[in-house]
Amino acid sequence: MRGSNLKVRTEDGTQDLRAVWFDNGKAMMIDQRELPHRVKVVSFDDHKDVAEAIRNMTTRGAPSIGAAAAYGMCLASLSGADLDRASKDIKAARPTANDLFFAVDHMYTLLTKGSDPVTAADGYADMIVDKCTKIGEYGSRLIKDGMKIMTHCNAGALATVDVGTALAPIRKAWADGKRFFVYASETRPRLQGMQLTAWELYQEGIDHAVIPDGASAYYMEKGVDLIITGADRITANGDFANKIGTFDKAIAAKHFGIPFYVAAPISTFDFDMKGGKDIEIEQRSGKEVTEIGGMRIAPEGSPALNPAFDVTPAELVTAFVTEKGILNPKDIRRVMADE
Ligand code: MRU
Repeated sequence: MRGSNLKVRTEDGTQDLRAVWFDNGKAMMIDQRELPHRVKVVSFDDHKDVAEAIRNMTTRGAPSIGAAAAYGMCLASLSGADLDRASKDIKAARPTANDLFFAVDHMYTLLTKGSDPVTAADGYADMIVDKCTKIGEYGSRLIKDGMKIMTHCNAGALATVDVGTALAPIRKAWADGKRFFVYASETRPRLQGMQLTAWELYQEGIDHAVIPDGASAYYMEKGVDLIITGADRITANGDFANKIGTFDKAIAAKHFGIPFYVAAPISTFDFDMKGGKDIEIEQRSGKEVTEIGGMRIAPEGSPALNPAFDVTPAELVTAFVTEKGILNPKDIRRVMADE
């Protein structure tokens, strides 16, 4: 594995980690369910356990899910498992993020052509990191000194192996000496904004505050210059699925005339899907809504609904920040032609 940019401050100093990597025959991951309280690394030597780690959100965020899936395929190949069966098992872990399917198909093609499994999976993870680095370079040009920037969920290094998608331009602009402020919305019910994005921004020393999801329009009205999120799947017409609550922000941004950017590598684009209505939205347990820290906070008789993602229509997107540059939703067809 090459180096990483995710600097983790621990009691023993600073460690450089990736969200997902391979070491000594095992797929390694930061257990994101434990953050921000502790940095726990878990390891797996069976592709079915990797699939379960994707399902239970030990690792999460579209590109990290893709890299975990690549290492899962690598383990399946090393153990001599049936690759068709392993592909199905891993793809069944979560339905919405395109990277999961892209990564499994990418690995299947390489493995059935005889590629070395570890080299192929490490290559996949490195490719994602390179794309995120380019996203950071293109996107940082949008960020000016003194800006107020809003993001949602976590689209940082944790979600993308390293660097980030939505956080890549923020990380790069800060490293270049620009100074600005980031609102990280908490992202109920799994709190990726509060527990993961805020943790990453803190590690980097980037000025920020966590806000309740419901406070987004309040702060937009006071003055937000730019909103940037990640994406889980972007369809051919420019509609995109992302963490629940993204659509609300895009509508509010339109109301206030605030530019709304979506940062994602081309692996998140599903060129075969025409529009967002076809995206399968993962429905998760209502307990994620009714319980906090394992304690029920809702009335016993009240069930909860828990869609994990929503779909924002292309007309609310200012542009996509990709490794190929900053693309207007209408430019997607041109990129499709190149792929
Ligand atoms: O349910 P999660 O935590 O996997 O959802 C993650 C998101 O919605 C991210 O914003 C998205 O994957 C983009 S990550 C670069």
